[in-house]
Amino acid sequence: MGGVRAGTNMATTTKDERQPHLWIKDLKEEDRIKGLYLVRVKKVGTTKKGSPFLSLTLGDRTGEIEAKVWERADVLSPLFSEGDVIHVEGYAGSYRNQIQVTLSDLKVPKDRKVNPDLFLESSARDVTEMMAALRKVLKGIENHFIKSLIEKFLSDRRFVQSFKRAPAAKNFHHSYLGGLLEHTLSVCQMSRYIIEHYPELNRDVMLAGAFLHDIGKIKELHFERKIDYTDEGRLLGHIVLGVELMDEKLMALKDFPRELALRLKHLILSHHGQFEFGSPKRPKFLEAYALHLIDDLDAKMNGLSRFMERDRKEGDWTDFNRLFERYFLKGKIPEVEKKGETGSSEDDRQKVLFSQNP
Ligand SMILES: [Fe+2]
Ligand SMILES: [Fe+2]
Repeated sequence: MGGVRAGTNMATTTKDERQPHLWIKDLKEEDRIKGLYLVRVKKVGTTKKGSPFLSLTLGDRTGEIEAKVWERADVLSPLFSEGDVIHVEGYAGSYRNQIQVTLSDLKVPKDRKVNPDLFLESSARDVTEMMAALRKVLKGIENHFIKSLIEKFLSDRRFVQSFKRAPAAKNFHHSYLGGLLEHTLSVCQMSRYIIEHYPELNRDVMLAGAFLHDIGKIKELHFERKIDYTDEGRLLGHIVLGVELMDEKLMALKDFPRELALRLKHLILSHHGQFEFGSPKRPKFLEAYALHLIDDLDAKMNGLSRFMERDRKEGDWTDFNRLFERYFLKGKIPEVEKKGETGSSEDDRQKVLFSQNP
C-alpha cells in the first residue's frame, strides 16, 4: 500500500497505439484528447431541436469522464456498445464546473484486442514475488490434511492463474488486478503475527482460513476490461462459491477429517462477521473470530489508504467518505524530535542560535 501506483503518470505509450495515452486523471480544461478509451456508459439523447446526441462516460484505469457526441450520433451509435473500447478525438471543455469532453471523431478499432492494463489498475506489488511469499507462509502448515488441501489449490494451474489476476472487490478495497493475492497474502502474514501473540489459536487452521477465505472471488468477479460481478457472483456470492471450490478439492482427498472440514468451511462462511455484511454464519470459534477481525482490518486499511491517496479536496480535510461516514484529516503527522539527537535538544538549539548570530 501507499505511494503512487505504477504507470499512472501522464504519458505512457501503450502497445495498442504508438502515442502517449492521456490519462483521465490528468485531463484539464482545453486539453485535446486522442486515443483509446473504454465506454463505461452510453446513452442516446435528443436535443431541444430534436436531433439525437450521444452522452458517454469514458474511462481508463485512472478514472472516468463525461463525453458528448453532437454530430452524426444516429450513425455512430449502432457501431459500439457499453464495455467496448473506442478511439476518440475531442476537446475538454467545462460544463457546470465539471470537465466535459466534446468528441469530434470516434472510431471503433478493427483489432478489438486491446491491452486491458490500460483500463484496469494493477497491484503496485510484483505478482510473482507475492505468490512466492504466499507459498512460503503456507509452507509453515504442519497438519498433513490441511497441507494436502492447500496443495490441491496451489498445484491447480487454472486456479493459480485466476487467483493471481483477480481483484479482491469491485469498489471498496484491493479493487485492482492482483488485489486478491495482495489481500490474501496480507491476511496470511498478519495471521502469523496474531498466532504468535495469542498462542491459544491453532496455527494451521488460522493460516488455511486466511488463504481460503476469499478464494470464491475468482468466480464472483469478472475482470477483463472492467471489474464487475458475474451472474454467479450476484446470485451466490464469494462466500458460497468459496465453500464450493473447497468441496471440489475435498472430493479428491479421501479420509479428510469431517470435523476439520467443517471448521475450515466455517472460516469461509463466517469471515464477514455479521449477517448484514453477507455472512450466513457469525464466527463461532476463536480462529474464526480472529480471521474476521484481521480480514476487516486489512480491507479497511487498504480502502481508507486509497481514499486518502486519491482525495483531491483542497484544505486539511478530505471529501466526505460515505462508507466510513466521516471526513478524514489529511497531512503528515509532524516528526517529534527525540531528546539527545543532534540539533534537537534545547542546548543544541542554543548553540545553533549563537553560531548563527555571533
Ligand atoms: Fe470476503
Ligand atoms: Fe477478505
